[in-house]
Amino acid sequence: MWFLGMDIGTGGTRAVLVNEDGAIVSSASAEHAPFRTPQPGWAEQDPEDWWRAAVEAIRATLAAAPTPIQPIGGIGLTGQMHGAVLLDAAGNVLRPSLIWCDTRTQPECDWLHEQIGYERLIELTCNPALPNFTLTKLLWVKTHEPEIFAQTAHVLCPKDYVRFRLTGSYAIDVQEASGTLLLDVTHRRWSAEVAAAAGIPMAWLPPVFESTDVCATISPDAAAVTGLTAGTPVVAGAGDQGAGAVGMGILAPGSVSATIGTSGVVFAATASPIRDPKGRLHTFCHAVPGRWHVMGVTQSAGLSFRWLRETFFAGQDYDALTAAASAIAACSDGLMWAPYLLGERTPHLDPEVRAAFAGIHSSHTAAHFTRAVLEGVAYSLQDTFTLFAELGIPVTAIRLGGGGARGPLWRRIQAGVYGQAVEILTAEEGGAFGCALMAGVGAGHWATLDEACNAAITVAERITPAPTEITAYRTGYAAWRKLYPALASLHPTRR
Ligand code: XUL
Repeated sequence: MWFLGMDIGTGGTRAVLVNEDGAIVSSASAEHAPFRTPQPGWAEQDPEDWWRAAVEAIRATLAAAPTPIQPIGGIGLTGQMHGAVLLDAAGNVLRPSLIWCDTRTQPECDWLHEQIGYERLIELTCNPALPNFTLTKLLWVKTHEPEIFAQTAHVLCPKDYVRFRLTGSYAIDVQEASGTLLLDVTHRRWSAEVAAAAGIPMAWLPPVFESTDVCATISPDAAAVTGLTAGTPVVAGAGDQGAGAVGMGILAPGSVSATIGTSGVVFAATASPIRDPKGRLHTFCHAVPGRWHVMGVTQSAGLSFRWLRETFFAGQDYDALTAAASAIAACSDGLMWAPYLLGERTPHLDPEVRAAFAGIHSSHTAAHFTRAVLEGVAYSLQDTFTLFAELGIPVTAIRLGGGGARGPLWRRIQAGVYGQAVEILTAEEGGAFGCALMAGVGAGHWATLDEACNAAITVAERITPAPTEITAYRTGYAAWRKLYPALASLHPTRR
């Protein structure tokens, strides 16, 4: 028996087929059209494009599978979190989706805090209102497009829209639902109080499932276009962060991942919902039943490096850039990067702050700028570890994921900045792999996600930072922390 995992990301959709040992037998991806930015801070994508890419990725994955083909025992979905897909009563998409990185909804956040109270909202949902979260996007539509709001009958997140197209069922998992700001995260059910205060009918919200629960089956129509078999069970899955953590074995309290994709995320599994009274961390249900997680998000992590390369080093590859940067000493001879290209989430919750290089000296070279970007992103992830320490969240082992785990330089920088050993996995297959494991649990092949991860995930390497690096980065971090207040004060409304 095989299990299929699908990740409906921002840039594209990836599908992987996993066997009963938890090894990947085939995978394929299909790109999405880039998100549109009709106004600064806006980010929109068409749900129909995700569905097109999902069909392409499934068909290509099935075509690439080795023979003999095994039956697919279960399917798990993950994807970019927080996006709002609004459907009418017949299931038609009403407008492009406002996606996770759309930051137009600060006024709606302010309104929610006024309406419900900042502390009460954190009590109810474990989180404050942030422009990334789904509810704020629904409120924007309510104010600015009342005719669309009036036709709305269902609200889904991106991967749940793809599930709807695959199965005809409306469903969401507890981890994804935590990122809507409509979930009572402590009790793992919708918050009627928040929905009522915000004026969102509960009937719009899909039923909530634990991640490993089977919540739907592939419809005959979807089977015909994808090549899947009608009736194949689909588990609830999780948002990309939850599924990525499962794919890295971050299940037990104390295990932590630091993943650098477009955004950067430090993710810790916890035994209970640990809330930051100031709301600087996200506190969500984990994909593991009965567990929760906290996470801090750097908005522009891998994006900082991509932006640097595309803007100043077009035509050069990442490896050449990091090779040159390896020759520069830790702390880039005083050059610093504050990675706030899209504002910042953790710990500042400030969509308006902007990025900066600081401390430029005439002796700095192009390689210093590359190294400073990698270090600035790691410092920004360290801000989340600093919060963990403040809230007593244990960190016993750190696993690196995403682009930050691939090259030797960014690995070393992270170990030095976090001040402790980091682990690299044999294969890091991301969220699609994590939700294939969830599908295996849903199908009864593994009893629990812990069992699935023990079978499928191994550590390849541990990188221990040198004491001199730890000391240098501790000093560098202390200086870097002074950048945010200075940059925040530059915003036109605060000058
Ligand atoms: C998580 C988050 C991102 C998006 C896009 O809170 O905003 O991980 O899911 O990848």
